[in-house]
Amino acid sequence: MKIIIINGPNLNLLGRREPLIYGNLTFDEFYENLKKKYADVELSYFQSNIEGEIIDKMHEVGFSYTGIVLNAGAYTHTSVAIGDAIRGIETPVIEVHISNVLSREDFRQISYIAPNAKGVISGFGLQSYELALESFIY
Ligand code: DQA
Repeated sequence: MKIIIINGPNLNLLGRREPLIYGNLTFDEFYENLKKKYADVELSYFQSNIEGEIIDKMHEVGFSYTGIVLNAGAYTHTSVAIGDAIRGIETPVIEVHISNVLSREDFRQISYIAPNAKGVISGFGLQSYELALESFIY
């Protein structure tokens, strides 16, 4: 089972960025624990601040991987192109967010990912990623 976590813009700053919203843990710290806990899963991780690089990665893995756990960050609310990329590949995508986007600003109420995703998990902190991962396992 091959699963990739893809993080979009500004998520490389986790642990330092708005800790009241996104927490104090870096993604690398979280990811190391996740890999140990789910040692049977072929887990990989990709982060980019660049929309086209996220799309390229989805094209690369999207015909052979079991699942994509995607936190597209702010591109969630703007990117028709990432929405189209999900439609164009075969691998199912789960949209995740650390914060509960539906409880935040109006511009975060729109998602170009959700209509094309298998499901959405939002608001559980970094555990959102783990819940998405588990949904592919069970
Ligand atoms: C986020 C929510 C987005 O609205 C925001 O732009 C992010 C992070 C989250 O994980 O809560 O960068 O995707």
